[in-house]
Amino acid sequence: MKSSHLKPEPIRVVVTGAAGQIAYSLLYMVAKGDVFGPNQPVILHLLDIPPMMPVLEGVVMELADCAIPLLRGVVPTADVAVAFKDVSAAFLVGAMPRKEGMERKDLLSANVKIFKEQGSALDRYAKKDVKVLVVGNPANTNALICSKYAPSIPKENFTAMTRLDQNRAQAQISSRLGVPVGEVSNVIIWGNHSSTQFPDASHALVNINGKQIAVPDAIKDDNWLRSMFVEIVQKRGATVIAARKMSSALSAAKAATDHMRDWFAGTAPGAVVSMGVISDGSYGAPKDVVFSFPVTIKDGKWRIVEGLVIDDFAKEKLALTGAELEEEKREAVAITQA
Ligand SMILES: NC(=O)c1ccc[n+]([C@@H]2O[C@H](COP(=O)([O-])OP(=O)(O)OC[C@H]3O[C@@H](n4cnc5c(N)ncnc54)[C@H](O)[C@@H]3O)[C@@H](O)[C@H]2O)c1
Repeated sequence: MKSSHLKPEPIRVVVTGAAGQIAYSLLYMVAKGDVFGPNQPVILHLLDIPPMMPVLEGVVMELADCAIPLLRGVVPTADVAVAFKDVSAAFLVGAMPRKEGMERKDLLSANVKIFKEQGSALDRYAKKDVKVLVVGNPANTNALICSKYAPSIPKENFTAMTRLDQNRAQAQISSRLGVPVGEVSNVIIWGNHSSTQFPDASHALVNINGKQIAVPDAIKDDNWLRSMFVEIVQKRGATVIAARKMSSALSAAKAATDHMRDWFAGTAPGAVVSMGVISDGSYGAPKDVVFSFPVTIKDGKWRIVEGLVIDDFAKEKLALTGAELEEEKREAVAITQA
């Protein structure tokens, strides 16, 4: 038999916060091949906290009942040593949610503790080329902390999710232009996954009647692109919560699969996606924070798209979101040193 006919060995993939609502959609998408492709079997490691183990058992039962051929094993656990053992990909979804009356600092402090522990566990137990996507908020700073505690894994392997913001921005433009969402590409999210993020359509493209044109030329309303559009995307999470009484979960899971699939498989020629990655200071962003940039991906490695023209309006927005990330980093580092 030719080797190409053989199924590859399963890869191990960890999802944290596995008993939560994002994971409920994400696990199915990963198990059925949306991320690693239709020929790559997976073993899912599911991490949650001890009180959630009975709920996690239910999730394990449901995964079994999905009867997915690519799913070769499920390892539910509350132990980071088991969860991170030999994993090639990590979706870090679990985080401490903001509770009523909780100060921003308390939230950061709880999460710094979680991501410090998980960074150390990745360092000890995961494959050295593990690709880590942090979804749990504050995602950018959590990713930074995680990487600091995993010195044996390259910093480039820690990323934060802004793909949901990108997908939301793409959907808004498609709806405004009345074109299918797949015709819109290269919308950029800059900075932090927070309300200071800058959704930027000035380099985005749209296919209309077989012709690719710049989104600003198609929309012909710069005022909308600089005001309403930015605000709708920045506040979309809150709008979903107001309607659903729970935060975005299906769309967050879909975005996580988009992010990880592109990272493993690469981006198509000409396609640009946004990821929170360790900053090298491009576009005047602060260095050594996890900042969302436009990237292209080849052979499992992302590269920041250089040379885009940034006008004064965009510069101001980038400075604002960069300053917030520096502040979060200062607070997080102070917590680790306390
Ligand atoms: N980056 C983004 O675009 C984006 C979008 C939506 C949600 N989020 C964030 O994703 C996170 C998860 O959202 P959700 O709706 O699934 O929340 P959820 O509360 O439904 O689930 C979170 C799960 O994480 C678990 N958890 C808590 N601490 C843990 C730890 N130390 N180790 C392992 N598991 C732990 C909880 O027990 C819970 O089961 C939140 O922080 C949310 O703010 C990010």
